[in-house]
Amino acid sequence: MKTETNIDLTSLPVSFQEGTTAWSSPSNIALVKYWGKYDNQIPANPSISITLSECHTKTEISWKKSNSGQFEIDFYFDGQKNEAFGTKIKKFLEALPNREYIKDLHITAHSSNTFPHSAGIASSASGMSAFVLCFLEMEKQVFGMHENEKEFYREASILSRLASGSASRSVYGGLASWGQSSVIPGSSDLYATQYQGTLHADFKNLQDSIIICDRGEKSVSSRAGHGLMKTNPYAQRRFEHAHENMAALLESMRKGDWDKFAALVENEALTLHGMMMMSYPWFILMKPKTIELLDVIKSYREKTGIRMCFTLDAGPNIHLIYPESEKTKVLEFLKNEVEKHLPENSIIFDKEGNGPQKLK
Ligand code: PMV
Repeated sequence: MKTETNIDLTSLPVSFQEGTTAWSSPSNIALVKYWGKYDNQIPANPSISITLSECHTKTEISWKKSNSGQFEIDFYFDGQKNEAFGTKIKKFLEALPNREYIKDLHITAHSSNTFPHSAGIASSASGMSAFVLCFLEMEKQVFGMHENEKEFYREASILSRLASGSASRSVYGGLASWGQSSVIPGSSDLYATQYQGTLHADFKNLQDSIIICDRGEKSVSSRAGHGLMKTNPYAQRRFEHAHENMAALLESMRKGDWDKFAALVENEALTLHGMMMMSYPWFILMKPKTIELLDVIKSYREKTGIRMCFTLDAGPNIHLIYPESEKTKVLEFLKNEVEKHLPENSIIFDKEGNGPQKLK
């Protein structure tokens, strides 16, 4: 596996010291979606997301020397040993090239999310980026590397991408894009960058109210979904379409054209779910409640003209996106028109955030 870095670490330094660090890293919600990839986690099209503020993962790791000659990890999620996550991290770290020292390492990790596990919110972006940030912080302390802040975050984005594509965008606050795009200078398939282009005031500090329509486990993983794009007859057109939507979306955000922005964001969400339905075999991740509430959103917007739009992740939950200036009206809408369709505490009020934070 190629990491696109020049790191070559064969063994732990003679002066190796045990240590600990902790990071919190946010989830993100894509406006233009990544769906389909090539080998080595190279995306089939560019994507751009809002980094969230409230939904994040906190991870603390401590490290010491492993005496078994093998990498060892004890991974705890919410205080409970989690073998599945531990195995995922082990596979990911052992596959990194030029880091032979990993076999001499023992890591204990404790992780938790600020959002309920059962909320069906994608946690791999926040979870993987939080772990990677801890891991690079460890390398910084043990090997005295990654001192340059810009390079630290770039490496964090590269490694997060290798762990879980969309996690590459979580290491930057604001809007982050990943994947080569002719309309984003400096964009790359290997890592995300923070979006630096001009934005109309309406698109600064976007709000995201996450409406939990179903709390169940997903029936098809993102990994399987990406894989099905390989045989989807519409895939090539979709990849071109994502490039077109990216250009049009950024233009709408520069000009302050909310209606255009809303149309594009909703088109991206439904195209993602359309691709799922057009895969062989097909699958549907929306639930009846998702459809019911999309209808509620659409008719209320037609009636009132409120500036709000929806997007969907690879799951049934609705992200309602709106400018900060519409907050009072949207909260009233959620309280009066949406909450009655749902069990209590089914909405998470989130917004654009500043990115990861070192806790320790
Ligand atoms: O990062 P993955 O492999 O879990 O893929 C996630 C893809 C979407 O969430 C559906 C879209 C995106 O760009 O975040």
